[in-house]
Amino acid sequence: MHAAVITLMLMAQDNILLGCAVAVQSVKAFVYTSSATVVEGVAQHMASEDTRVKTEKSKCDDYAKSKALAETMVLQTNGTANMLTVCLRLPSTYGERDEQNIGEGIKAMRRNEHKLQVGDNTNLCEWLSAENAAQAHLLAVEALLAEHQQPKEIAERVAGEAFFVTDGEALPFWDHFRLIWRAAGDRTAESEVTKIPPLAIMSLAAIVETIYWIFTFGRTKPKAMRRDLLAFTFLERTFSIDKARKRLGYILKANRNAQVQAGVRWYLDQHFLGRDKGD
Ligand SMILES: *[C@@H]1O[C@H](CO)[C@@H](O)[C@H](O)[C@H]1NC(C)=O
Repeated sequence: MHAAVITLMLMAQDNILLGCAVAVQSVKAFVYTSSATVVEGVAQHMASEDTRVKTEKSKCDDYAKSKALAETMVLQTNGTANMLTVCLRLPSTYGERDEQNIGEGIKAMRRNEHKLQVGDNTNLCEWLSAENAAQAHLLAVEALLAEHQQPKEIAERVAGEAFFVTDGEALPFWDHFRLIWRAAGDRTAESEVTKIPPLAIMSLAAIVETIYWIFTFGRTKPKAMRRDLLAFTFLERTFSIDKARKRLGYILKANRNAQVQAGVRWYLDQHFLGRDKGD
């Protein structure tokens, strides 16, 4: 079989899959699902693809680092064995069959954490529906195959490039989760939400991290009370999708509310209604 196209949503085995794709010599297009976390720094204001990418030396969590290293490898492989590559940098993605963004959101609600808010919720963040994400992947494959036929000018090419892909409609961090919580039946009023100043929670996290560090000899980090994770809740983090619009022809399709509703309904069905799995 001639594997003309392999679109891979990869996590851990990036390197192995990249090696295989090169070795078989018949893969023409390699689309890597990267992450917006590959760029240095949490706070971002309409960051473009020129933003510096993390390296081996960066101080960051393992997920961001592995995505950054994989992305760099994938882009360096562009043009090898007649294979063109592209990286799509996604922010937190939500939709049907989503255990992560929506799943973790609902779990937080069940722990009553939806009545807490870090910061004043003016910080815009990017989100991406699974439907928009899928569209971007298909456009990327098509663009690479088209470039096999006819290479593009540097300013227009897709091969060997990275792209931010988002819903193109930033939403404050807590607003996104409130959409999920409301869809899951929550009716908490704004006045019932306790607002925690970022400095207070970051100080507390610093203490918790230190205690962990001492008692686990630096081997384990706390799961939630970590400054690197908490920073995402109160800092602006926005990315420009101009490059994706211009070069991939990416247009926004999915309706956020409908996608959140569908994702929440699916999650609740799976986890709380005892319905058949695999539905
Ligand atoms: C990727 O490879 C193709 C084919 O060799 C080449 O035309 C294109 O310029 C490369 N992209 C980058 C960013 O170097």
